[in-house]
Amino acid sequence: MRIRRATSADVPAMMRVELQSPGAAHWSRRQYECLFTATPNPAQSERLVWVVENESDERSGKDRNEIREVLAFLVAQRIDADWELENLVVAQSVRKRGIGTLLLEKLIAQVRDETGKSIFLEVRQSNEGASRLYQKLGFQQVGLRKGYYQNPSEDAILYRLS
Ligand SMILES: CC(C)(COP(=O)(O)OP(=O)(O)OC[C@H]1O[C@@H](n2cnc3c(N)ncnc32)[C@H](O)[C@@H]1OP(=O)(O)O)[C@@H](O)C(=O)NCCC(=O)NCCS
Repeated sequence: MRIRRATSADVPAMMRVELQSPGAAHWSRRQYECLFTATPNPAQSERLVWVVENESDERSGKDRNEIREVLAFLVAQRIDADWELENLVVAQSVRKRGIGTLLLEKLIAQVRDETGKSIFLEVRQSNEGASRLYQKLGFQQVGLRKGYYQNPSEDAILYRLS
């Protein structure tokens, strides 16, 4: 298993992982593809898209452009010194094995390296598993956004790690 930067070729595999996950942020193919377009002012903002993939595919010698088994992905955006975790999804079959923690710890390390100020994120109030993960890594609840989510409508808890 390894973490690498995603490319637009990963979009179908990322969408497959997201579709198994009602708690994830749901985006259209176009929104996924837009993640890979250059930001107009890199000094002001940047986007990170990482995927976790199964290394066994590489060892089998198959063409990695044809076979990409994405196990998880993370999307985050920086605006000035603040980061937002925009999406974090682990495939259902490999949850509770530390992959979500691995991705978040890597993001936290990168933000520290870049002397970022904070990481913000929102999560559905009912998503207790994700909330536990964020709390375990030191995120603190800093707000509640009423009716933030649709389909179904639900409040969002706003977390921040300083
Ligand atoms: C939330 C999610 C990313 C966690 O990923 P994961 O790889 O399973 O998480 P980890 O194995 O690293 O778990 C770390 C900690 O999180 C908590 N946790 C994770 N999933 C949990 C669950 N289903 N129930 C309760 N606690 C959970 C636990 O405290 C766990 O620590 P422990 O194993 O020592 O008990 C994953 O469940 C997922 O993709 N869910 C669907 C999408 C989603 O909700 N994304 C978050 C959007 S804000």
